[in-house]
Amino acid sequence: MNIIKVKDTQMGGKEAFKIVKDDIENNGAKVLGLATGSSPITLYNEMTSSDLDFSNMTSVNLDEYVGLKPDNEQSYHYFMNEHLFNKKPFKNSYVPDGSNPDAEAATKAYDKIIEENPIDLQILGIGRNGHIGFNEPGSPLDGTTRKVGLTESTIEANTRFFEDEKDVPRFAYSMGIGSILKAKKIILLAYGENKADAIAATVDGPVTEDCPASALQNHPDVTLIIDDAAASKLK
Ligand code: GLP
Repeated sequence: MNIIKVKDTQMGGKEAFKIVKDDIENNGAKVLGLATGSSPITLYNEMTSSDLDFSNMTSVNLDEYVGLKPDNEQSYHYFMNEHLFNKKPFKNSYVPDGSNPDAEAATKAYDKIIEENPIDLQILGIGRNGHIGFNEPGSPLDGTTRKVGLTESTIEANTRFFEDEKDVPRFAYSMGIGSILKAKKIILLAYGENKADAIAATVDGPVTEDCPASALQNHPDVTLIIDDAAASKLK
């Protein structure tokens, strides 16, 4: 894994943007895999303030809460519209359909979308417990899109976005780790001390379902963009 250490999230956004821009302009990247959460926001700001044109490109997001429609302000679809798509529209932007209660249909449909739009560059954040997308510890490292139950620590971490902990959805549809690993290139962004254990397990630990992001060790082209605090427990 390549590791780029940055002093803050602003610089992290700039470093990530350089890779995105280079992949589009020099490698012909056409499909971006995108993530939600606070970590990619500075990258999305760089993208929206750039002169890059995404109108010929496709985006495929990692996950969505089950039960939330795209117009729900807490949905990941809404988040993406606010931070990126409203300002820089893509030709097609896909997010799992959280409003479909039929998990089998929703996840199959999403796998088809991923198959038809192979991801050139995947952006990832990481959960405090090492989850990527919403693949919590214990998720199969070769999985495809699934309905997943969120762990207590993830629910707690996400409570800050909701008025009441009761309102935080307990389930999500998430791209699987197997699908994530099929992306040609992967960038993982992590900032802050509460990511330090997860980053240490991702880089220095064994490849194990206990830390889903450790599966990235098996991918040939992963770049971690992390600040000093997130890097503080690396060997
Ligand atoms: C959620 C998302 C993940 C994201 C994680 C960390 O669980 N499903 O994709 O990586 O939050 O979010 P943050 O970047 O806000 O720490």
